[in-house]
This record gives sequence, C-alpha cells and structure tokens, in this order.
Amino acid sequence: MLEKEISELSPAEAAAELKRIAEEMAKADEAYYQNDDPYLTDAQYDALKRRNELIEKRFPELKLTDGPSVRIGAAVRSEFGKVKHKIPMLSLGDIFSEEELADFTAGINRFLGYETDTQITYSAEPKIDGLSFSARYEHGKFVKGATRGDGTTGEDITENLKVIKDLPLTIEADNIPEILEVRGEVYMSKADFLELNAQNEKEGKKLFANPRNAAAGSLRQLDANITKERKLSLFVYTWGDVSDIIWDSQSQFLEDVRQWGFKTNPYNRICHTTQALTDYFEYLMKERANLPYDIDGIVYKTDSLALQNRLGFLTRTPRWAIAHKFPAEQAFTKINNIRIQVGRTGALTPVADLEPVNVGGVIVSHATLHNEDEIRRKDIRIGDTVVIQRAGDVIPQVVEVVKEKRTPEAEEFDFPHICPMCGAHAIKEEDEAVRRCTGGLTCPAQAIERLKHFVSREAFDIEGLGAKIMEEFYHEGIIRTPADIFTLEERNKKLRDDLFAALDDGSIYLENREGWGKKSVENLFKAINERRDISLPRFIYALGIRQVGTATSRLIAKNYGSFANFRNDMIQGDTEKLLAIDGIGEAMANDIVEFFAEEHNIKTINELLQRIQVEDFIDETDYNSPIAGKTVVFTGTLEKMTRAEAKAKALSLGAKVAGSVSKNTDYVIVGADAGSKAAKAQELGVTILSEDEFTILAAQK
Ligand code: IVH
Repeated sequence: MLEKEISELSPAEAAAELKRIAEEMAKADEAYYQNDDPYLTDAQYDALKRRNELIEKRFPELKLTDGPSVRIGAAVRSEFGKVKHKIPMLSLGDIFSEEELADFTAGINRFLGYETDTQITYSAEPKIDGLSFSARYEHGKFVKGATRGDGTTGEDITENLKVIKDLPLTIEADNIPEILEVRGEVYMSKADFLELNAQNEKEGKKLFANPRNAAAGSLRQLDANITKERKLSLFVYTWGDVSDIIWDSQSQFLEDVRQWGFKTNPYNRICHTTQALTDYFEYLMKERANLPYDIDGIVYKTDSLALQNRLGFLTRTPRWAIAHKFPAEQAFTKINNIRIQVGRTGALTPVADLEPVNVGGVIVSHATLHNEDEIRRKDIRIGDTVVIQRAGDVIPQVVEVVKEKRTPEAEEFDFPHICPMCGAHAIKEEDEAVRRCTGGLTCPAQAIERLKHFVSREAFDIEGLGAKIMEEFYHEGIIRTPADIFTLEERNKKLRDDLFAALDDGSIYLENREGWGKKSVENLFKAINERRDISLPRFIYALGIRQVGTATSRLIAKNYGSFANFRNDMIQGDTEKLLAIDGIGEAMANDIVEFFAEEHNIKTINELLQRIQVEDFIDETDYNSPIAGKTVVFTGTLEKMTRAEAKAKALSLGAKVAGSVSKNTDYVIVGADAGSKAAKAQELGVTILSEDEFTILAAQK
C-alpha cells in the first residue's frame, strides 16, 4: 500500500491510521512476545512504529491512550507466576541516523540549560538483541527473577534464571546493597543458536527464526530443565529496586557489578564527545558480524546519575537514553538460479538460490522473490548481482539488482504456467498477485504441505512428525493422507508380523529405518495416539481451508458447537450462520463452502472420522452476567489486574471488548490517568465505571 505523506493526512485519515497501526503492532507484538514467532521483520516493525510517532507528533490530540507509543512489550502469559516490578522496566526511544543523534544530544543540552554544543559524557553500549530480565538479590542471595512483561508486571522466571551459568546465585563483597535488583538481557549466542536449530532439524522439531526467538522460547519454559539444556547467556546493564545506590554514574555501576561477579558487555564504552559516539557507532556496525551474538544497535546513556535524575522520563522511556539502531543488514551476492516452491494452497513462490554470503554472521544461500510481479518490477534475472537484506530475522529478501554488473548472459526467468511439481495448470486470478497450481491433492507438493500443516503445532501437534520425516513418508508412500497417520501403527505391526515381510531385508518396518529404533517408533505411536481425541478448533484449523487460521477456527467452533453441525451446513452451502459471525466475510465463507464441495476433501474427512474423535466445543461463556452482550472499553491504567486479565474476564462473561468509545459502547471502565476515551464517554453519555465497580458488576449473576 502506498502511504500518504504525513503532512497531507486529514485528521480523520490520521485517526484511522493510528488505529490501524495500533492493531497491526498489537498483533505483531503478540506474535513476537507471546508466541516467539514473529511475522514482521524488525525493519517493518520499526517503520510502523516510526510512522505512528510522526502521526502522533502532528496530531497529538489523536494519540491513543493505549497505542504503541504508550504500551510496551506484551501482557504476561498466564501460566507463569506474576512479579510486580517495584521500579517499572522501561523501554527506549529509537533513532536511525546521525541527524537524529544530533537532535538527541542537543535536546538534552537544551533541557539542562546548556549550550547546544556542550559535550557531556555518555556510556555507549551494544544493544543486545535478546530478552530483558530482572534479578533480585537480598543479602547477596538471588531470590527472584522476572521478565519485563508489560513493564509493570512480568513473569516469574526465577527457576529458569537459576540455570543460566552467567548469573551468580550468591554474591559477596562488603559494599553490596542489601536489596539489589540487576537488570539486563538474556541472549543465545549465534553458535548455540545454529547448534540448537541443527539438532531440532534432525529431530524434526520446529526451527527458530533467529537467536532472539530461540532465547525467548528457551527461557520461557515452565520446565526449567528445558531451559538448562539450551545454552543461554546474559549481560547486566542497569538496575531496578536498590536499597542504597552507591554508584554515581552508569560506568561506575557497570564496574561495581562486574566486580561482584556479573557479566557486563566488554564493548561498553565511555564517550566524551558527540563525535566519539558517531565513531563508535561506525566501528561497532563493522564489528557486528564478528561478535558472537546479535546486536541491533547501540544504546547511549548520559553517564552521570545526577544528570539522569534531572532529565527524568517521558511516558515510557527515559529522556537520558536512546537506542541508535543499525540499518538492516545487507550484502552483495549473485543469483545462481531461480526455482519454484509450491505451497499448501498451491501458491507458486519463486525462490532465488544465491551464492552463499555472510550477512551479519549468518550464511544466507536463498532469498524469496515473492511472486512474478515482483520479479518483473525489480527486473531480476538469473546471473544478476543483487543486494540482499536480512532485516533482523525471517527470510532474506532481494532489495535491488546492481544493473552495472549485469552481464549479457543474465537470463530472464520465465515464470511457469504449469506447476513444476505435478504438471497441472497454474493460473493467476486477475486481482491476485500469486499464481496457483490447480492440481489440488494430486499435486505432491500441495499434499505434502497440507500434511505438514495437519501435524503442525496449532493443529494436531504430533511430536516426531516433523517436516523432513513427513516428506520422506510421503515419497515412500508410508503416509499420503491424514488418515494414514492413524493407521500407521496397525500397518507397521502387520508388516512386522507378516512372515514374508520378515524374510525381506526388513527395511519396510519403521523400527529398521536408519537412525530409528524401537524406542523412537514407540514414542511416535504414543504421540499419534494421544491425538485421537482432538478439540474442535484444532480440527477445523488442521483441515487447512484457505484463509481459515486459528482465530477463525475458534470462532467457527464456538458458533457451531460440533463438527457435524458445521459440516452439514457447509455441505448444503448454507452460510447464513457463518456470515452472522463477526469476523467472517463473504470471501472466507466462499472458500469454506468450496472446500466442502470438493469430493476428495469429504473423503479425507470421512476417513479421518473413522479413526479419531472430534470433541464438541463447550462454550464456557457465562451468558447470565449483566455485562453479557454489552460492549465495553477499558482505558487508563488498571491497578488490580492487567489489561489482558480484564479483557479476558469481560470476554468470558459474554461482553465484547472494543478499542474505542462510540455511541454503541455500553460501559467504559476507567483506570488511572485515563485520557481522551473517558472524556469521549462523558460527552456521549456512556456509563463510566471505576475498576472496582467493574469487578462488582462482573461478579454478579
Ligand atoms: S537500558 C530505561 N541498555 O533494549 C532503560 N537496554 O528498547 C532500560 N537493551 O528493554 C534499558 N541492550 O531489552 C538498555 N545496554 C542496554 C541494552 C538494552 C539491550 C534492550 C532492553 C530494553 C530494550 C529497549
């Protein structure tokens, strides 16, 4: 989408965009923080954040009270105990250029009443790309560990931190404050990340996108034994609650904690001039690839605590510190070939095979080219020299072709109109960017991708049936349809018991596969059998209907209650109930009906239902509550529960939770420091409740 210049936005457009960005970022935050599975690159995320800031700057009155500039991180996952931070764990503002750095230092000087070019001392520290933690020591003993969470309340990770070797469990020195909370970053080194992924790949487990996700996934384990198996490291860079602050500068703090046995980053530097900050930035950007861990920028902090105290804080970030982010990592390389991958829904995706190149410490050997329009738009040819970008994480992209380096041999890519995997026609609808194979399940690529989806984490979640094994099983004819998974044990046993088969070389039994044994086969069957009872949302999601993700699957389950109800309506093409669901539109309903209109899909479902049970969906919503069916809006800071908790409570009582106040709102629940939403509610005459009033109302039947 082409974005309008901010100076040209009307207030209504600005408000709509702020809302859109807030929603997009909340979704991205959830993927990143809750599920450790991001879908936006860091660069894309930063761009959103940036645009949000600029719009808010031009229209300060439209700023959302719970928008991205106010909210940090993500709400606490419920399985972990909670830890309330006595001193909140804050975030940092970002800058991306030398000009912005000059603005930052000038702003500090102005605030302090100094001349613009006064040189003050800064501590410059690599910004470690991991997860922040807080560790509390009482009388030198480690007593409590927490994640940042939403900045106010984090998750209790005491047991997990205990197994990280860089964290001392007791510290001894005469000058250690009785209460000392040190804070810093837990990370996974690049080498440990590669090793973990190699191991996971071998075992057919999910791969992590980058070291940060691997660290997050490893730290936030309810079973600390798993954390222990993963190699995590940490650096300390700041403090929280401290009974007696005995240092007068950031650098003194770093030195004190280092002497007490904590790890501090060896690249932390003191800079006495703005020029020194810039020089250090240039230096670290080059050095970055050689560091054993990922860093995504440099943090500058005024070194003197006296100055920090005078400068104080903006809403959620200190005025005395800023994060200077590195640009996305880029490199030059050559395109050796372009090939086509066929996905679950038949989409043909062009992938470039590259001359392997080191991009910020990660060897990159392919990049996605998205679709045929993209290849045409960027005029990408086989043999071209290109700039590729690994934007923090995910799949590398081709930024542009270096035209000066193009040779006469460079070859245009003919995008196939026939599926390279099965030979069926591949067609492109007018309004779609992708070309799709029409082969359906007769196309092996689609069949394999569907099977992989079927056993994936949010679907049947069968441990032991990873991507690689699934491909092997498909090609060897061991598993061709979802139902085959549930007949595998029987078939394997029959083969084993069969006299003739026994006289064979035996390679047909799973137990005799290379690298397998009795135990791994038993484990596999156990994992499969545990899934013979499956929840309705998982089952619907596992079918792999186009556009139907986990959230939609849950909506369908909730509204239909049983698979039989859903299937009957769909087979009859009756979409009335479906379209009445908030969040399901015509296009999605069409895809669903089309899915059920295909005979092979019905066959697959029937075969499956002979071997598994789909549980009915029990709706736990309490419709007797006085807030059932009402639309509520939360605003301001709640004191006794997190926003996520309040929202979950309201939803469980059958209420709808909205993000903004309108005449359709029934209740606005107002916490501390509520802003424009409370005012709007008053204006519209909407009932306003305090947090306590809401709690009382929610408890009524
Ligand atoms: S100081 C009040 N120092 O970056 C300031 N943060 O976007 C608190 N980070 O939440 C943070 N390296 O997770 C600080 N040397 C460093 C850091 C650092 C990485 C992370 C941290 C923080 C985030 C801010």
